Amino acid sequence: TGKKWSKSHVLFLLSALFVGRAAAERCPRICICDNIKYHVMCLNKNLTEVPTTIPQITQKLDIRGNDIKVIPGGAFLPIPYLTHLNLQRCKVETIQEGAFRGLGRLIYLNLASNNIAFIYQESLDGLSSLRQLILEKNRIEEIKPGAFGQLGFLNFLNLAENLLVYLPDMVFQGLQLIKWIRLSRNALNVIANEAFAGLPTLRRLSLDHNELQYLPSEALSKLSGTTQLDLGYNPITYIGEEAVGMASLKQLFLDNMALQDVSHKAFESSPLLHTVDLHNNQLQVLQPLTGMGHLKKINLTGNPVLCTCYMRPFKEWAEKARIHADVACAGPAAFRGEQLESLRIIDMRCGSQALEEEQLPSKAIPTREPEEEAKKKCPEGCVCSPDLQHGNCENRGLRKIPKGFRGNTQLLDLRHNEFHSIPKDSFPGLKNLVSLHLQNCKIAELQPGALQGLKKLVYLYLSNNDIADLNAAVFKGVPQLAYLYLDHNGFTRMPRGAFRLLPRLFSLHLQHNSISQLSDHDLAGVGKLRWLCLTANNITQVSPKALAPAKMLEKLHLDENLLQEVPTRSLQGLPILSELKLSKNPIRYIRDGAFQTVAGSLQHLYLDNMGLEQISSGAFAGLGAKVKSLYLENNKMSSVPDLGSFTGLEVINLSSIPFYCDCQLLPLRKWIDKLNLRVGATCGSPAEVRGQKVKLAAIFRTCLGSGPKKAKRTSSGKSKASPKTGRRDSKKSGKEQSRSSKKSKA
Ligand SMILES: *[C@@H]1O[C@H](CO)[C@@H](O)[C@H](O)[C@H]1NC(C)=O
Ligand SMILES: *[C@@H]1O[C@H](CO)[C@@H](O)[C@H](O)[C@H]1NC(C)=O
Ligand SMILES: *[C@@H]1O[C@H](CO)[C@@H](O)[C@H](O)[C@H]1NC(C)=O
Ligand SMILES: *[C@@H]1O[C@H](CO)[C@@H](O)[C@H](O)[C@H]1NC(C)=O
Repeated sequence: TGKKWSKSHVLFLLSALFVGRAAAERCPRICICDNIKYHVMCLNKNLTEVPTTIPQITQKLDIRGNDIKVIPGGAFLPIPYLTHLNLQRCKVETIQEGAFRGLGRLIYLNLASNNIAFIYQESLDGLSSLRQLILEKNRIEEIKPGAFGQLGFLNFLNLAENLLVYLPDMVFQGLQLIKWIRLSRNALNVIANEAFAGLPTLRRLSLDHNELQYLPSEALSKLSGTTQLDLGYNPITYIGEEAVGMASLKQLFLDNMALQDVSHKAFESSPLLHTVDLHNNQLQVLQPLTGMGHLKKINLTGNPVLCTCYMRPFKEWAEKARIHADVACAGPAAFRGEQLESLRIIDMRCGSQALEEEQLPSKAIPTREPEEEAKKKCPEGCVCSPDLQHGNCENRGLRKIPKGFRGNTQLLDLRHNEFHSIPKDSFPGLKNLVSLHLQNCKIAELQPGALQGLKKLVYLYLSNNDIADLNAAVFKGVPQLAYLYLDHNGFTRMPRGAFRLLPRLFSLHLQHNSISQLSDHDLAGVGKLRWLCLTANNITQVSPKALAPAKMLEKLHLDENLLQEVPTRSLQGLPILSELKLSKNPIRYIRDGAFQTVAGSLQHLYLDNMGLEQISSGAFAGLGAKVKSLYLENNKMSSVPDLGSFTGLEVINLSSIPFYCDCQLLPLRKWIDKLNLRVGATCGSPAEVRGQKVKLAAIFRTCLGSGPKKAKRTSSGKSKASPKTGRRDSKKSGKEQSRSSKKSKA
């Protein structure tokens, strides 16, 4: 019977194949087609394109390990029933527009281990049912907001092991059902405040193994529904008050960082926290954490915790609140290796009793390595952390950069020494260094090659030195450098072209120098620069092309300089500039169209404290609903142009402006009435109303058209009073204004 059975089995199989005959015939020769499960596999076949003869009814296509560099538009149109598509290890570099068009049933797309550098929204067109998108192990450096905008059903997005450095605002916009985003093992060092806005369904966020030096508190606070946050393996040293404010957070992983201190109020605004994992950090003491009624577990293993009287409050707190605290003591000697739980409070002492056997070091006690070994790898006069990922030689009167740190050092603190000059090759062997602190070191010169070998350096702090010039060759060999602090130095001009070798430069701080102008080529090569701070220099002029290389600029601070007019032309070609500070420049007059060049992107505009005498009526032409804050306080003009087009304001400051309160000002008065914001506008004249709030000044009652019912033309001839449609009215008048200003331009 066994034979019979197998015969019929074969027959059945054959007939199944014949049923799907047309399809079966189309199976590409080198693939395996299972026409019962509608499953096609073509693994490791050196295919250079998606095979064209796959059965139309195929639901799962697995073509891992091929050689498909480009996925062209419409590549899968012949197989519209696909639900699973696996394209791992296919050397994919480019996904053309519409590549996945027609795959409206696809729920799983795996693109891991390819060479994809960019994701465009158009590349993901048509994937309207997708649930899981795996982009792990590619070369993605940047994601544009909206790239995932069409993936409304996605619940898992895996972007681990890419080259991401920065997450811009609204980057995950549109992922309305997302549950878990994995960003582990990138090089993230900046997360914009609104990066995680609009993700109410996100339950888990993985940011471990990145290069965050500070907790992105503001960005995290937007994650109202997130219950698990993975932040381990980031070089963060300190967690401040209310650093984590996440309403639903239950599990927080802060392990394997470089934490030296955690504020006892750090998690106060995360009331549901249940587990805090702090293992493998450098904490010696922890205070009882306040405001944590739900905490059940805290893990401090692998920290050099000193079980002295300073840990008594923590122990008492943990016992009282029945928190399971996993803490192994690193000292004093008598308790080394003991569990904190097993100690008696009375035995945890400070002062001479505790110290008689050993001197408590000021910084850290090595725990994982024998002390002698540790000493060998830490230059004399410095203190190295237990894991030796930190070196600290702050304020030691050093005149030469110490050498001999361990190769895994991530942070080196050399502040407050007297180096004067940093010679070539000053940091040999520090190929894992992320952060280098050289503030207040009387440095006047960095020689070419000074930093070479610091392959992973992201943060370089050179504030408060005497540097007046820099040669581009200084930055040879630090290709990852993203944050450069050169504030409070002696620059009288921009170091021309000095940043050419820093393709990843993200944030450049040159405030508090004496730079007198910005010229063409000064900023050559800074194509990724987002923030440029030139506050408090002597800048009188910005040449029209000076900022052109910084196409990605988002924040430009030119406040406290000597500009006499808005540098309109220089702002051209900065398509994402969102914050412009011009406060405290001696600008007396603002011309029509002064911000036209950045009107498409500007959100925050600072024009306060300038001694402004007049703003032309078309000065804000083009600006509108995008603008969130407008600072005009402390100026000398007696009125401001129609602000009706600013419908998205969250902050506006009109205080200390001597408004002339007569019927001409009625439109402003009405606008303020409708606005649900404090503006601080007061009348400066005429004398009888001086000091009255514009909003309350009785003088307007006498004006035509001020009554709540009767709509009349006002003196300006623009706004119409209509309480019911007030909002729309103000919008319309804004549009009218920009239209009329366009007209006047033409
Ligand atoms: C694919 O190409 C590699 C290298 O050229 C070769 O060794 C391998 O045999 C090829 N595999 C197939 C299935 O053709
Ligand atoms: C604390 O972390 C260590 C290291 O990962 C682990 O072995 C231990 O089980 C953890 N303790 C608790 C209570 O979870
Ligand atoms: C910069 O401006 C300040 C204030 O106007 C002035 O005192 C200083 O001499 C100027 N510095 C240079 C280098 O021009
Ligand atoms: C406006 O700015 C002034 C001066 O900085 C400040 O005191 C005031 O609180 C601000 N007002 C508003 C409404 O923001």
